[in-house]
Amino acid sequence: MDESGLVRTDLGLFLELNAVDASLPSYRRLFLALRRSILSRRIEGGTRLPSTRALSASLGISRNTVKSAYELLQAEGYLLSRRGAGCYVAELPEAKSLAADPVVINQPVKLPTASAINRAPGLLQPAVPALDHFPYRRWQRALQSGVTSVGLLAGDPQGDPRLRREIVRWLGAQRGMQVDPDQVLITSGSQQGIFLVADQLVKAGDRVLLERPGFQGTERVFDAAGARVGHFYQHELETVDRLGPARLLLLTPSRNFPLGHTLAADRRLALLNWARQNRAWLIEDDYDSEFSAGPALSAMFSLDASQQVIYAGTFSRTMFPGLRLGYLVLPVSLVTQFREARRIVDGGLSVTPQMALAEFMACGDYSRHLKRMKRLYLQRRQMLEEMLGQSSLAHLPVIGAGGGMHLCLQVPTGCDDRQLVAELDRVGVCARAISQYDPKQGAGLVLGFAAQDRDAMARGVAILERIVSAALAQLD
Ligand SMILES: Cc1ncc(COP(=O)(O)O)c(C=O)c1O
Repeated sequence: MDESGLVRTDLGLFLELNAVDASLPSYRRLFLALRRSILSRRIEGGTRLPSTRALSASLGISRNTVKSAYELLQAEGYLLSRRGAGCYVAELPEAKSLAADPVVINQPVKLPTASAINRAPGLLQPAVPALDHFPYRRWQRALQSGVTSVGLLAGDPQGDPRLRREIVRWLGAQRGMQVDPDQVLITSGSQQGIFLVADQLVKAGDRVLLERPGFQGTERVFDAAGARVGHFYQHELETVDRLGPARLLLLTPSRNFPLGHTLAADRRLALLNWARQNRAWLIEDDYDSEFSAGPALSAMFSLDASQQVIYAGTFSRTMFPGLRLGYLVLPVSLVTQFREARRIVDGGLSVTPQMALAEFMACGDYSRHLKRMKRLYLQRRQMLEEMLGQSSLAHLPVIGAGGGMHLCLQVPTGCDDRQLVAELDRVGVCARAISQYDPKQGAGLVLGFAAQDRDAMARGVAILERIVSAALAQLD
C-alpha cells in the first residue's frame, strides 16, 4: 500500500485518534492511536508509514506533532527507520490482550477533597492539640535547620541519629528510661510502630490481648495480622494469671485510652512477671502521658529487667498530628530485626522533619512548648468542666481521670452514643462515642478541649446541650 493510500483509507486511525483522551498532548494522542493500530494489526508489520509531511497534512495537525509521535514509536520499538526510505512498522508478536489506553474519565472518582481531609478541627474534637498556641516561628526556624545538603540525602533507616539521641535524653529525664539511642526506631507515628511490631512478632493465629477500653487503630492492626484478639480490663490484672498465655499484650499503662486512669505499680509488676512466665511481648502505648495531671510517671519499660517491653511513643499530640513522627523503644534483642524491617518497608523516613524535630528538642523549644501546653490544657479542661457544670447537662457524670486532652461525659444507658455522635457531627461538634472503644463501658461522649478557645468551647457546649437534652427527653 502506498503511503497516501494508507492515510486515505485508514479511517480507523482517525477514529482511534478521536477515541484518545483529548486532554493529552497531541503528539501523545497520535502515538497512542498509531500504537493501537499497530498492536491490533490494523497496520501490519512491514508497512511503510506515510512521511511526516503527508500525515500532518492529512490529519490537519502540525508536522512536529507527527515527528514527535514517530520518534516515540521508534524509541519504543514499534517503528524502524530505514535511512532514506522512511519508517516501517516493526514485526511484532501478536498481543493477545491489550491494556486500555488512558481513557477519558467522564465520572471522576470520588476522592475526599483536600478541605475535607485537612478541614479545621471540629468543635470539641479530641486528639487535636492547641494549634492556636503552636510556636510556628520557632518551628519554622527548626525546619530551616533541616534544609542542608545532609537533609537532602537519604538518612539512617532507623531514624535521624540526633533525633534518637534527643528522644533518649527526653525519656531519661521524663519517663525514667535508661536506653541507648540504638534502641530507638523512628516511625511515622505510633500506629506504624505498632504495625511493625505486629508484622515482625505476630503470626496469624497467635493470641494477642488488647486493653479495653482501647484505641480502634490498634485493634485493626492485629485483626489485619490475623491474630486471635482477646481483651482485658486493667482491673482484671489483679489476677493476672487468669489472662492465660499469649504472644503479646498491649496496654496504655500511664493513661488509659480514653478514660485516662493509670495502672498501679503492683499490677505493672504482676504483668511483667506474667510476660516473663509466658514469654510474651508487652507493648506500652504511651500516646499522651506528657499531659497527665500530676508529675510525669515512670514508664513500664523502666521496670522491665527481662527486656520484654516495647515502648511506643508519638509526637502527634505533643507537636501536631500532621507531623507523622513517632518512635519505638526496643529491647536490645529486637534492634537488628526491626532495623532490617524498616529498611525493607521504606528505607527510612523523610529526613528534614526529623532534623527539624531534633533541633527543636535540642534547643529547649520542645520542653518549653510542652510545659506551656500542659498548663493550658489543665485550664481548658477546667473551663470545659465548668461550662458543662453550668449547663443543663450538669447531672451527667464526667468519668475517668483528669489531665489529658479530652474528657469523657457519661450518658444514660439506653442512649445510643453513636447516634448522638452522628447528629453532633452534622452540626459541627466532633465528639467520639465511648462505646466504640468498649461496647461494655456503657454510653458516653469523648470531648476534646485542648484545641478549643473559650468561644469555640462555648459554642460546642451549647450545641451539645441542645442535641443531648433532646436525646435524653426521648428516653423519658
Ligand atoms: C491510644 C492511641 N494509640 C496510638 C495512636 C496512634 O497515634 P499516631 O498518630 O502516633 O499514629 C492514637 C491516635 O490517636 C491513640 O489514641
